[in-house]
Amino acid sequence: MDFEDLIPAPRAGRRVPPARGTFTLDEATALHAAPGTERVARWLRGTLGAATGLPFAEGREGSGIVLRVDPELAPEAYRLAVDGHAIRIDGGSAAGVFWGAQTLRQLLGPDAFRRAPVDPARRTWDVPTVVIEDAPRFRWRGLMLDVARHFLPKDGVLRYLDLMAAHKLNVLHFHLTDDQGWRIEIRKYPRLTEVGSWRARTKFGHRASPLWEQKPHGGHYTQDDIREIVAYAAERHITVVPEIDVPGHSQAAIAAYPELGNTDVIDTTALSVWDDWGISPNVLAPADSTLRFYEGVFEEVLELFPSRFVHVGGDECPKDQWRRSAAAQARVKELGLAGEEELQAWFIGHFDRWLTARGRRLIGWDEILEGGLAPGAAVSSWRGYAGGVTAARAGHDVVMCPEQQVYLDHRQDAGADEPVPIGYVRTLEDVFRFEPVPPELTPEEARHVLGTQANVWTEVMEDAARVDYQVFPRLAAFAEVAWSALPTPPERDFAGFERRMTAHYRRLDALGVAYRPPTGPRPWQRRPGVLGRPIDGPPPNR
Ligand code: ACM
Repeated sequence: MDFEDLIPAPRAGRRVPPARGTFTLDEATALHAAPGTERVARWLRGTLGAATGLPFAEGREGSGIVLRVDPELAPEAYRLAVDGHAIRIDGGSAAGVFWGAQTLRQLLGPDAFRRAPVDPARRTWDVPTVVIEDAPRFRWRGLMLDVARHFLPKDGVLRYLDLMAAHKLNVLHFHLTDDQGWRIEIRKYPRLTEVGSWRARTKFGHRASPLWEQKPHGGHYTQDDIREIVAYAAERHITVVPEIDVPGHSQAAIAAYPELGNTDVIDTTALSVWDDWGISPNVLAPADSTLRFYEGVFEEVLELFPSRFVHVGGDECPKDQWRRSAAAQARVKELGLAGEEELQAWFIGHFDRWLTARGRRLIGWDEILEGGLAPGAAVSSWRGYAGGVTAARAGHDVVMCPEQQVYLDHRQDAGADEPVPIGYVRTLEDVFRFEPVPPELTPEEARHVLGTQANVWTEVMEDAARVDYQVFPRLAAFAEVAWSALPTPPERDFAGFERRMTAHYRRLDALGVAYRPPTGPRPWQRRPGVLGRPIDGPPPNR
């Protein structure tokens, strides 16, 4: 345990006298929570209490662990000061105090990441005497989980919220719907989950693979599950941004309610939840009835998710059915549009106004820039940096998540052993050297970069262990990019980061994370004979 092993790296930290001193946590160590920090105290007692077996009884200010809000600090900033008498965590808000508590956990060593004491005889835990002053670089430090392609049961989501919190990430972008599954209970439309939440079989590997997993796959979150997830996230100062993907990526919804599709082009009653990968041509009909249906969906979504931002997808919507649909063409005429391409902007524009009228803000994938976007809407820039540059220059807030850099479904090594290799090789070092802010932006434009996000698409991640393998250790490097004040990529100290990772792997071990070892996949992490789709060569720079 050493404060120089922290991940993500803090802004500033120094040892303070006594030289090589420590504060020792033991049975007598009290915990004092000043007003506004009670929930952080609950987390700390629950988590560190479980790992250490120590009670952390209610204490007085001045000794033991002291949590306090200091309004002089920025909202997510904290100061962690350890001397011979006390551990003080001051935060600009409860969130700052919480991030400081996460740092304290790292200072206690890897066993602090376990759920019960491994050594019943151990009575004391030493913390070095340090002062750490820290604050995040970005306010949006996100992870997108695709729970549509493969369902991640609720316990897995709660576990990911804990893993995010341990890395000081604060936005879970929850990709809840897609062609291959609808994962959220909507009371008004029960068939969305009765029909839309499962498929009879699943393509095993990339879509060109001849293999099928011949068993039904499915699952969904009830509304109480969602409430629990949102509350659990909130206790960890994580916002859950729900995504309901429209007007493409909607085959599961159309399978459940065939009237949502382009019924004059295909027999939508014959559709089922998609069992293959790719981009389904079966998209929503651009009809008023579709808008009303989704307003009903979003009404329940808004009840469940307090997030200011609501994600409406908007990516990869093939226009072929709209081109062939007499009803869609009539709509184009009636709206005075130049063609079916513009129906997409009309669709997104409707929900932008609808969400804005309800005090929320729309966010969507960068395709929503095509055809114009209302000023308050924000963009997830995924097709490289260009969308982010265009959005920021047009005055839109943007979250940078370029697929060439931070799509964690992309393989992390060029070796033949990588399970179902997809996309570019993006190593731990590549992610560490990822720079979210496009250098061509002026400082004024760059203020629109809310932050950054790593995206996890799960077509070839059939269970939580596969998700862990793709996400870790790279999420640790991503967390450093999102939180720490790193220099420009060529100047970043990867050797130093790797040294800190030695300690961090022990934390991940204690947390039970099935990461990719630096030496390559373990035998059971391989998927011999399952076809992927690797892309050769380095990704384009921009
Ligand atoms: C995306 O990767 N289709 C946003």
